Amino acid sequence: MTNIAKSTFAVLLLVMAMSSAGFAAPANANYDESKVPSYTLPDLLLTLDGEKVTDAKTWEEKRRPEVLELFRKHMYGRSPGRPQQTSYQLKEISKQVFGGKATRKQITIHLANDQKHVDLDLLIYLPNKVKGPAPIFLGLNFMGNHSIESDPAIFLSKTKWFRNKKDAGYVNNRATEKSRGSSTARWPVEMIIDRGFGLATIYYGDIDPDYHDEFKNGVHGLFESGNQKRPGDAWGTISAWAWGLSRAMDYFETDEDIDQRRVAVFGHSRLGKTALWAGAQDERFAIVISNDSGCGGAALSKRCFGETLARMNRVFPHWNCENCKQYGGNEAALPLDQHMLIALVAPRPIYVASASGDLWADPKGEFLAAKHAQAVYALYGKKGLDVDDMPQLDKSVGHYIGYHIRTGKHNITAFDWRQYLKFAEKHFAK
Ligand code: GCU
Repeated sequence: MTNIAKSTFAVLLLVMAMSSAGFAAPANANYDESKVPSYTLPDLLLTLDGEKVTDAKTWEEKRRPEVLELFRKHMYGRSPGRPQQTSYQLKEISKQVFGGKATRKQITIHLANDQKHVDLDLLIYLPNKVKGPAPIFLGLNFMGNHSIESDPAIFLSKTKWFRNKKDAGYVNNRATEKSRGSSTARWPVEMIIDRGFGLATIYYGDIDPDYHDEFKNGVHGLFESGNQKRPGDAWGTISAWAWGLSRAMDYFETDEDIDQRRVAVFGHSRLGKTALWAGAQDERFAIVISNDSGCGGAALSKRCFGETLARMNRVFPHWNCENCKQYGGNEAALPLDQHMLIALVAPRPIYVASASGDLWADPKGEFLAAKHAQAVYALYGKKGLDVDDMPQLDKSVGHYIGYHIRTGKHNITAFDWRQYLKFAEKHFAK
């Protein structure tokens, strides 16, 4: 085969793999490294008035707030603070999970603002062998709390909106009994418990259902009526999901079985974008983990490789703020890039993971963003990735910035989890 025929064939295989993964990859997406436009990343260490940042203090007091503001204004939008009222209700508890190894708690977080209410159902597993408050992983789930384990004690809502997935028991945007445990492959709860960690999750649709309704439902509805014109930097759905993660963190601060200083926030794909934005804003999250988060997550937007901002903002118009839309197809004008999002987590440890068959999420762009974020870790005297080039497949690298590219497709697997557990063990060691 000629080189052109070979690369056409490779793109064809990729498109076929992506269609079988549940979405059609647009034919015009670029997967050719030689077609990546030349681009200049904004200098992380240069303030808006031209001062070079050379120490952690200037980063924290001057540059970090600027960078945070750039993401609020141009990417995800500006989130409100806590709602007027929050209360917690323990609805169910069992200390006998996994033959007595774990405790399961189901808590409802009641949020109220301006006479309006939203409930978030939080499912928590804690390791019984840990004496005192346990470290915990917190992440949103796509298919309901009942999907992460087949345990019939987990509440299953037949009235909430879900994405359709007939084979897994989601029909007419509702969950059926058949959907119990349908996502267990992504949630190795017992393995996490055995390693001495807790796990907490909320269904992302509790915070904001994942479709565009002009920001009336979900937690947006607590703060806005849906009738007034929204500013260009009003919060989108990724911001809302991230805000929901912070509300889970508020709850952790009240639960003496959870070590609020050792909370690792994680997420896969759009929920990986969410985990990054949550960890960037809320410094209570001690570790941040991005699994295959791609465009609008860990991947550099200016590379325009795989998914682009233009495509994302068109297909998912509710995810980012309105201001972001002007940068689709005009990435050169974007006054930020995703290395700056990773840097907002510094000096806290962060892990970025890619998958070899997930070119849509631009593994190289994810690696490069992690690499460019090192400059801020260096201000704290902390080593980031500590490698110059992408590591070989299935090899975890890095100190305060962890990275791997796993063989396989867009997913979160036991391999990914083993790396996150190791990373958390290393950084949470007392
Ligand atoms: C689509 C979308 C991605 C997103 C992914 C997911 O592929 O284009 O941006 O990360 O869905 O959340 O599964």
